[in-house]
Formats: sequence, C-alpha cells, structure tokens
Amino acid sequence: MTLASEVRQYPFEPFTGELSQELLGMIETNSVSQVRLPDGRKCWLVLGYEDCCTVLADPRFSRLTSGDTAAPTGDGPRSLVMDGPAHACVRRGASRAFTARRMDTYRPRVQRRVDELIDAMMSGGRPGDLVSGLVAPLPLLVVCDVLGVPASDREQFYDWVAGVNSILAYGSAPAAEAQRELRVYLGEQLVAKRSAPAEDLLSVWAGEQQSSGLTDEEVVELGMGVLLGGIEINSTSTGMRALFLHPEQLDKLRAAPEEKAASATDEILRYTTVSAMFRVVVLAADAELGGVAMRAGDCVMALPWFGNRDPRFFPNPNVFDIERVPTSPHLTFGFGPHFCLGAALGKMQIELSLATLMRRMPKLAPAVPLDELPWRHDRINGGISAFPVTW
Ligand code: HEM
Repeated sequence: MTLASEVRQYPFEPFTGELSQELLGMIETNSVSQVRLPDGRKCWLVLGYEDCCTVLADPRFSRLTSGDTAAPTGDGPRSLVMDGPAHACVRRGASRAFTARRMDTYRPRVQRRVDELIDAMMSGGRPGDLVSGLVAPLPLLVVCDVLGVPASDREQFYDWVAGVNSILAYGSAPAAEAQRELRVYLGEQLVAKRSAPAEDLLSVWAGEQQSSGLTDEEVVELGMGVLLGGIEINSTSTGMRALFLHPEQLDKLRAAPEEKAASATDEILRYTTVSAMFRVVVLAADAELGGVAMRAGDCVMALPWFGNRDPRFFPNPNVFDIERVPTSPHLTFGFGPHFCLGAALGKMQIELSLATLMRRMPKLAPAVPLDELPWRHDRINGGISAFPVTW
C-alpha cells in the first residue's frame, strides 16, 4: 500500500514511445508535481507549456549546480551546463557559424549522405534496420562534414565518439579518456585549420577568434558541443513509427513527400517523444511555479514533450497532423538561452530522410509489430534501438 504522502517513483511506467495518459491529464490542472527520480532525489516535474518555458529560460533554474541527472549524462557539452554571461559569450561566438545561410549550403551534402545510406540499405536486402542503416549513422556523418574532420581520421573519430557516447550511458573511465583524447584531437584540428582553412565550422571559428574573443579551449568546447549535441537524432525513427501508426498521415506524406516533409518534420518533433527524461536543473533561489512554492536547492525537471501537448498552445494537441499550422513553437529544441544551436541542421536531416524514404521506398513498412520495437533506456536521449523494415 502507498501512503498518500509518499512521493511517487518516476517514470511511472517503462517508456515505450507514448506519453503517460495520467500526466497528459495533469498538464492544465497540475502542471507542477513532485516525484522521486530513479537516483532517489525528490524532483519537481513540470508539464505545462509556460511553466516549461520558465524552467528552460529563467536563470534561477540553474544548470551550474545540477550535479548528476537521473539518467547519467556524463560531462557532455559544457555549454549546456553553463549559465548567464559566460554562456552567452561562448554562444554568441558559436552562432556566427550557425547562420541559416551557412546551414543551407550543407543541404546537398546531407542529401548525398542520405542517398548513400539508403543505397546501402537497399543493396543489403529486405528486411533492413532503419536505425543502423540510416538513423544512427546519418547525424555522425553530417557532424563530421560540418566540423570538417578529414576523411582519413574518421575511423579514429568514430571510436572516440563511441567512447564518449558510453560515458553518457555508463560513466566509465575509458570513456572519460576517449573524451580527453577527442579534446586533444579537436585542439590539433583547430591549429591545422588556422593554416589551411576550409568551409567548415572549426575553420570559421578559428578565423573569427580575434573578433569573437573565443579562446582555443572555448572553440574546442564548441566542437565538443556540436559533436555531442548533434550525433544522435532519434526523431526520424519515432516519426516513422508515428506515421505507421497513422496510415492516413503516411498516405498524405507519400503522395507529396517534397511538399509535406517540412511540416511533417515539425509535427513529428512536436508530437513524438524519445525518452521519459530530460535535463534536471537546480533552483538557485526560492521561486513559485504553477502555484507551487519551491525552495533554493530543489531539483526541477521540465518535460518539453508535455508542454508540446498543452491545449492552451496547440489546439487538439493529441492529434498527429502532418499538415498542422503551427500556433506556437514546439519545445523539442528547448527554449531561451540554450535553444538548440543545431536546430536547422537537425530538422534538415529528418526532412531529407523522410522525403527520400518516401520517394525511394514507396512501399516502406514495418517488418515487426510496432509494439515490439525495442527502446533504449540507458541514456537520457532514449530512442528506438532497432527498427526492422521492409520495402
Ligand atoms: C532533431 C535533432 C535535435 C534535437 C531534438 C535537439 C535538441 C536540443 C535541446 C532540447 C537542446 C537544449 C538543451 C537544454 O536546454 O538543456 C539542445 C541544445 C544544443 N544542441 Fe541540439 N538538438 C538536435 C540536433 C542538434 C544538432 C544537429 C546539433 C549540432 C550540429 C545540435 C547542437 C546543439 C548544441 C551545441 C546545443 C547547446 C546550446 C547551448 O547550450 O547554448 N543539436 N538541442
């Protein structure tokens, strides 16, 4: 028997791709409630759109003292755990390279990568795995292209990234070593780009150091941030799952992939969820949120995917509609000072993947029942770990 005063263990149920019905029902009436995280800490769970925005953007909800989150995250991109002016300064330097115009120049390269991966999947025969064939390798290839990592170093680079990835899951010593080696490598690349600049982010950051005032160490951290923020994009697989579960939406996309892929991508980002967890922050001062008094030192976890289902901001929020006309920006890329730097590049990868799958595999279908798809529970990023498909 549970006592009424006992704080419930979160997540309430193992994550399998759908949002908890119980929590969906609480968005408007009980946006802030208390739960216990898997690591034992009590934490305020925040669900409503406006309250999520406050937690993501208000400096009282600090990343500096957040310590370990429930799902271990290792020390990952440091920009994510910086606050205030120090973060704003690095962020300004980084944004110079992330202009919409520059991101557009990557489009043909991303398309080429998508085509190469789909070629390989098709020549491997049916059924194939959408995750190992396309969803997992694409972001890593794109990040290498964007950062300007020489092709000859890619194998070594992949090993390091696999190591860094495992710190996100396990916090092992070899993984910390991989992270250190990766920093050294990026430092060397920065020196090399200075004498032979190219059209990549490291070259741009190196060329602008005098005017941006960023130190070598900060540029290396930006490289790490892009790498760790950009190596995993799970929304293409959660999006295909949602499309298979809503065949009428899939038919619309199939009928006009080039025209509808962009709005389908936005709706997939709003509607689908990759994990039950998000970053845990710690209150730097007392605050009131959603009518609840919080104390300095309290842990808080805002879940953007519930904000994305707030009926006050999205009419019929639980309807998956690839032609939805956006009424508010979704929160899947965050909100405020830490808003995802790679949002345009992330969206581009999902959009080109969906459009190309529709065009080149018009009979694409799941090869196993959708409720049997395996989910990853060992990382904050979650996601589908394998997605057998036929075409
Ligand atoms: C669909 C794909 C992606 C999603 C859903 C996503 C989501 C997010 C979210 C939610 C944040 C904010 C985290 C927070 O407030 O704690 C973030 C930050 C960030 N993302 Fe992404 N991201 C994606 C793709 C990418 C890509 C492709 C890159 C790089 C090429 C990237 C680089 C970054 C960086 C550098 C930050 C840190 C920004 C800062 O701290 O100021 N992301 N991302």
